[in-house]
Amino acid sequence: MHPKVNGGKCSLWTFQGFILCIILVELCSTQGTIQTQNKDVQLGGNVTLKCMPTKDLNTLLVTWQKKTDQGVENMAVFNETAGGNVFLPYKHRIGFDVLGLNETAITFWNVSHQDHGCYYCIFNTFPLGSIKGNPCISVYDNLKAFLHYQIADGHLNATCFATGLPRPNISWVASGGEKNEREIRNPNGTVSVISSILVNVSSLKKQLICRIAHRGEERDLKGPVAERGYLDPVLLSVVLLIIVVILITIAICCWRRHRKKPSGKF
Ligand SMILES: *[C@@H]1O[C@H](CO)[C@@H](O)[C@H](O)[C@H]1NC(C)=O
Ligand SMILES: *[C@@H]1O[C@H](CO)[C@@H](O)[C@H](O)[C@H]1NC(C)=O
Ligand SMILES: *[C@@H]1O[C@H](CO)[C@@H](O)[C@H](O)[C@H]1NC(C)=O
Ligand SMILES: *[C@@H]1O[C@H](CO)[C@@H](O)[C@H](O)[C@H]1NC(C)=O
Ligand SMILES: *[C@@H]1O[C@H](CO)[C@@H](O)[C@H](O)[C@H]1NC(C)=O
Ligand SMILES: *[C@@H]1O[C@H](CO)[C@@H](O)[C@H](O)[C@H]1NC(C)=O
Ligand SMILES: *[C@@H]1O[C@H](CO)[C@@H](O)[C@H](O)[C@H]1NC(C)=O
Ligand SMILES: *[C@@H]1O[C@H](CO)[C@@H](O)[C@H](O)[C@H]1NC(C)=O
Repeated sequence: MHPKVNGGKCSLWTFQGFILCIILVELCSTQGTIQTQNKDVQLGGNVTLKCMPTKDLNTLLVTWQKKTDQGVENMAVFNETAGGNVFLPYKHRIGFDVLGLNETAITFWNVSHQDHGCYYCIFNTFPLGSIKGNPCISVYDNLKAFLHYQIADGHLNATCFATGLPRPNISWVASGGEKNEREIRNPNGTVSVISSILVNVSSLKKQLICRIAHRGEERDLKGPVAERGYLDPVLLSVVLLIIVVILITIAICCWRRHRKKPSGKF
């Protein structure tokens, strides 16, 4: 029965150490881990966080907490005798989806930007103590954007508006121009970015584009197409008139000189 290692006292100690080791490893591995998943949810939507131990545990109590800047905040608890209990600031905003000790799930209704963050689902077990899962919620709102522009006094004045969560990023595809940007934090947590550009129309070489980056995607809003330097028709007529006048003057001068030359020789 005993493994025949070296024989004598030493083998007994080695064997006991080996058994102790196996018990410890077994105890540690029975704890297992908590299976969970991070979720993305749109502002105003519903989202469910679920936690499941990978091993059967002797769980007495399940607790849900929110991670905050200060530490943690208790949201809800469940045990077999008392059932589920959701605490005050969360009372009408979340509910248990799965009431149990083997598995737990809570649903957030009408998600607000305050729900963005990470949570703990804690299985208080005997005799292993508490085992935690750490799922996170990422709250977003779809991008709303538009471009407005006008041309006055040889300048193109364009303003790009982008609202979303997280904050959208605006950049201009244009050479030069005077740029100006401001942002507004909306009550629902979204951010509106308002960026304007003032460009001299004659320096506009290509089409002006407002490029918006949001949630890993890019959207281009196109401004007016540059038309061969954007020459004003009035300015063009004036320039043409001047050229014609100059040409006529030169022609008249040449003609006069031509006429004078032969008359001077005589
Ligand atoms: C959040 O507020 C912005 C600006 O008021 C609005 O455009 C957007 O639609 C709102 N989002 C939701 C989901 O209500
Ligand atoms: C969220 O859940 C509530 C209650 O179950 C339901 O009335 C509502 O339609 C759901 N909203 C969405 C966006 O699924
Ligand atoms: C369940 O919770 C209630 C109140 O929180 C407590 O009085 C009770 O002892 C708990 N039962 C178990 C089995 O933990
Ligand atoms: C919890 O898990 C145990 C063992 O897997 C099972 O016997 C029991 O029915 C489960 N309880 C619930 C409420 O699902
Ligand atoms: C959802 O929450 C917003 C504020 O966060 C509120 O204005 C709106 O009425 C709520 N919608 C529902 C269906 O409860
Ligand atoms: C550009 O247009 C916006 C409105 O579209 C206006 O508020 C702003 O004063 C204009 N800027 C210039 C320099 O004309
Ligand atoms: C937003 O733009 C700035 C510079 O214009 C850049 O450094 C930053 O990485 C951008 N952020 C995102 C989320 O695209
Ligand atoms: C526009 O730029 C051109 C040169 O690029 C300059 O000659 C002209 O005066 C500018 N127009 C205005 C209105 O600033």
